[in-house]
Amino acid sequence: MPSLISALTTGLLLASGIHAVPQGPFGAESGIVSAVPTASASTAGVAAAQPTTASASSSNAASDISACNNSPLLCDRAYNNVTYMGAHDSSFLRDASTGNSLAGNQYFNATVALDAGIRLLQGQVHDANGTLHLCHTSCTLLDAGPLEDWLAKVKFWMDNNPNEVVTILLVNSDNKLVSDYAAVFEGSGISIYGYQPSDGSTASTTWPTLGNMITSNKRLVTFIASIDYSPTYPYLLNEFDHVFETPYNVLSLSGFNCTLDRPSGQGSAGNAISAGMMPLMNHFADSLIMQGVQIPDETDIDITNSADTTTTGNLGLHADTCVKQWGTKPVFILVDFFDHGPAIDTADRLNGITATGRKSVSGEGKKSTSGAGENHSPMGINVALVAFVGFALAMV
Ligand SMILES: *[C@@H]1O[C@H](CO)[C@@H](O)[C@H](O)[C@H]1NC(C)=O
Ligand SMILES: *[C@@H]1O[C@H](CO)[C@@H](O)[C@H](O)[C@H]1NC(C)=O
Ligand SMILES: *[C@@H]1O[C@H](CO)[C@@H](O)[C@H](O)[C@H]1NC(C)=O
Ligand SMILES: *[C@@H]1O[C@H](CO)[C@@H](O)[C@H](O)[C@H]1NC(C)=O
Repeated sequence: MPSLISALTTGLLLASGIHAVPQGPFGAESGIVSAVPTASASTAGVAAAQPTTASASSSNAASDISACNNSPLLCDRAYNNVTYMGAHDSSFLRDASTGNSLAGNQYFNATVALDAGIRLLQGQVHDANGTLHLCHTSCTLLDAGPLEDWLAKVKFWMDNNPNEVVTILLVNSDNKLVSDYAAVFEGSGISIYGYQPSDGSTASTTWPTLGNMITSNKRLVTFIASIDYSPTYPYLLNEFDHVFETPYNVLSLSGFNCTLDRPSGQGSAGNAISAGMMPLMNHFADSLIMQGVQIPDETDIDITNSADTTTTGNLGLHADTCVKQWGTKPVFILVDFFDHGPAIDTADRLNGITATGRKSVSGEGKKSTSGAGENHSPMGINVALVAFVGFALAMV
């Protein structure tokens, strides 16, 4: 297909000439350049929020706690003694709504993820002309709509699932103020569920049990990387006061390890654990498709997300390696394409539970049998590359 080849070539030349990957503290997070016709992505992304429920059910507290986060065994477990499986870039979809965007990290949205047992939702937030939007790398590339609309949908799910503790982790790409985040958390209504530690500015080893959080209906924990913690908004926590992460810029299945990457000031994972910080294990790989252009690695996803402990790159193996090195479990794990594996199996094993009350994802995501390339119609790739070239030109 000549036009595809020419688009590829143009993309390659532009990419190598202009350093399409922004470098910064969130290099990989912001560096996954894609490729989406902006209009269709944002149209899909800003689809009307779920109707919010009446205020009575908004403050719905669990009346009968027979299970917490899908198991009775977790009710008496402290928040920081549970492993939460998380969807990395949970709002950036590779599905029909984005024309199977190469930038998409998930096949299913956050509501489907929560139904399937995912309890950590990660996303990247940008300033779109004064409004906080969930955008991947740039709002020109993949705009999943206003943060407030997305939060309202997560709140809607929490209203209807009162026995569940959820964690949100946001990357503050444009260094907005904590008060800007508070405005959308309050506007969406989800702030009513915000858990407030007694001292939110310092890591703590004493977290409440999931049962306590559910009974008090303060069952949303929010981390933002990075904000200045303010006691005025005590439910918005600065991620790196409480959490440390393993590296995320992984381009090969042998690249996963358990070394502390951020916050670098802690020096080592051991130091961070001693300081009471909770470990976050990044477990997603990218593919370098041309110089400076990384996209989520779909080809190897069934190895990457497998609960097995036998093959380099397996989620189960990475988790066991970290448990051994740290002497404690990862509290948070982030994966791409969470339905593959399924990734949740590894969290269940670390938690020692057999889960109940989940909805299985209907039909696995795109890559069930085919290779990555086959998931995108040639037309789709072509459109995507043209969009990418457009983006590259805009950056010159
Ligand atoms: C974490 O939970 C496990 C399983 O209930 C328990 O054996 C262990 O003592 C707990 N750890 C801490 C630090 O409370
Ligand atoms: C996910 O998609 C379903 C079906 O379209 C929709 O009802 C739900 O609100 C969406 N959730 C999010 C977080 O976008
Ligand atoms: C900001 O506004 C300009 C001018 O109206 C528009 O072209 C641009 O797409 C907007 N940016 C975002 C991120 O919405
Ligand atoms: C873990 O991976 C990071 C990033 O690739 C690397 O800098 C670090 O040296 C690795 N740690 C070990 C112990 O190999």
